[in-house]
Amino acid sequence: MQPTDANMQKKRENDRLSVLVLHGPNLNLLGTREPSIYGRETLDEIDSRLRRAGRRKGIEVRCFQANSEGALVDRVQAARNEAVRFIVANPAAYTHTSVALRDAIAAVAIPFIEVHLSNIHAREAFRRHSYFSDIAIGTICGLGSRGYDIALGIALERIGAT
Ligand code: DQA
Repeated sequence: MQPTDANMQKKRENDRLSVLVLHGPNLNLLGTREPSIYGRETLDEIDSRLRRAGRRKGIEVRCFQANSEGALVDRVQAARNEAVRFIVANPAAYTHTSVALRDAIAAVAIPFIEVHLSNIHAREAFRRHSYFSDIAIGTICGLGSRGYDIALGIALERIGAT
């Protein structure tokens, strides 16, 4: 098959060094969702800040939110064919339930940091168990949206973008 301009353009985009920021279910509601726990910032505000921080270091930050497990698994699998060097993931409620998403992250073998806005250890007992922490480089929780900034900072450092 002859490479078309559109294909070449897609390939160039895929080849750009990037960090994937993954947000699980209900995080699209940030800003209005239980603000005393999750804060008043919207997901768009958080994502824009992360994209800007990446741009300053010449790294593309690709943000993806989904409410369904399958969509998150598909996004992680797609990262294999892109130049995604690092994943920052807040699996939200799937943290406590999803073997499928854990397996996807393990399968692509891209290093990742697990982030939670709230302190999952200081809440209901069912939130204390994570299917991700033992395969993550580290976990940040309880620091609100600053947790994403810190995780991205470390991701950029690790991929040599500082
Ligand atoms: C969360 C904590 C989870 O227990 C919860 O289901 C979420 C968000 C957090 O960021 O604090 O949806 O991951």
